[in-house]
Amino acid sequence: MTAQHPTKILVVFGTRPEAIKLFPVVAALKADPRFDCKVCVSAQHRGMLDQVLDIAGITPDHDLDVMKPDQSLDALTATLLTGLGRVMDGETPDRVMVQGDTATAMCGALAAYYRKIPVDHVEAGLRSGNIYHPWPEEVNRKIIGAMASLHFAPTEVSAAALIAENVDPARVHVTGNTVIDALQWVSTRIAAEPELVSGLAEIEARFAGKRIIGVTSHRRENFGGGLENIAEAIRQIAQRDDVALVFPVHPNPSVRAVMDAALKGLPNVAMIEPLDYPHFARLLGMCEIMLTDSGGVQEEAPALGRPVLVMRETTERPEGVAAGTAKLVGTDVTTIVTGLFKLLDDKAAYESMARAHNPFGDGQTARRIVELLLREIGQEA
Ligand code: UD1
Ligand code: UDP
Repeated sequence: MTAQHPTKILVVFGTRPEAIKLFPVVAALKADPRFDCKVCVSAQHRGMLDQVLDIAGITPDHDLDVMKPDQSLDALTATLLTGLGRVMDGETPDRVMVQGDTATAMCGALAAYYRKIPVDHVEAGLRSGNIYHPWPEEVNRKIIGAMASLHFAPTEVSAAALIAENVDPARVHVTGNTVIDALQWVSTRIAAEPELVSGLAEIEARFAGKRIIGVTSHRRENFGGGLENIAEAIRQIAQRDDVALVFPVHPNPSVRAVMDAALKGLPNVAMIEPLDYPHFARLLGMCEIMLTDSGGVQEEAPALGRPVLVMRETTERPEGVAAGTAKLVGTDVTTIVTGLFKLLDDKAAYESMARAHNPFGDGQTARRIVELLLREIGQEA
């Protein structure tokens, strides 16, 4: 039998959540000699991406360093498409892998398609049914879905959404979500090295005896009204003496300006810099409730039995809502505040949501993806 060259797979990502959800796959690909795994980061995020690269021990083969403050979507997209195309022309990979629905993922898939390189899409098939919620992610992921060769859907719901769009069912695989692999990995690291999360000790001491609520918010569709409402809801919640809100603020200047104006100086609100992944996992463990518009947090919090109030009008992750661990509260101030107070004051309501439930994966997703790729390249595991 003649020896086969390893299949060169270029993994492309650029933001914090993509890095978190792809590091387990990069590790699994690098561990298998049948693959030659190259990593290209766009650095659409800089500091928040580097936090993940550090903890995961990934040194990218290419770094486009595209982040600029307040960049328009057009400028970002143009820079990404040409930059990623150039890397692909240099590397000539056999396959390109992207994750989710960011501008980097969409441009990575498009640049690969323009070169007729097969695209593997991790976290495929999430759909809200509304092209402006989340914006622009709903359309980004539909564009990727139109080009992908293999679609790794986290759940049956996302697989069904793809098949309803006439994607060939033979190309769709339910794998779970790699975020659970990442969360399990980081939890094991923290258990072995507790000093990885020592940076939260000051906040733990400052808020000892208070009921901790974790907050994150960054969605573009909430700019121009929604974010102000979220800030006002946090301000009203913070009037209660028994609670403390811990809020790692997204560095997007449009988010910072609103949150600083409304919340700076409130005694029981800690607005802090983005936490690295171990510290954020620790925050999830510390808090009673998560108040968030993040996609990834909607998947992680249920896995840890933390109720999530989702500050969005729609969700592409109905599994958490169906399981009873997540609730949509939108961006109306009263709905957010009453939803949160109900969980704080009604023990039965809290208990019914606070069940560790894991509709999004079992921690074996990266392994499954690699096995499916091996089958695709004719090298069964
Ligand atoms: C991006 C993704 C979104 C994803 C989110 C995760 C797009 C269009 N949006 O949104 O899908 O849910 O990331 O967080 O792809 N910034 C920093 N440091 C950082 C990161 C960001 O200063 O480490 C600032 C920069 O000024 C940057 C701005 O935040 O221009 C916005 O970043 P960008 O990636 O364009 O959009 P996000 O809102 O972060
Ligand atoms: N996260 C983090 N530090 C923080 C806030 C979030 O590591 O300060 C992690 C979180 O655990 C999740 C991911 O970042 O895995 C979510 O990223 P984000 O909310 O920016 O993007 P989304 O998931 O909405 O695309």
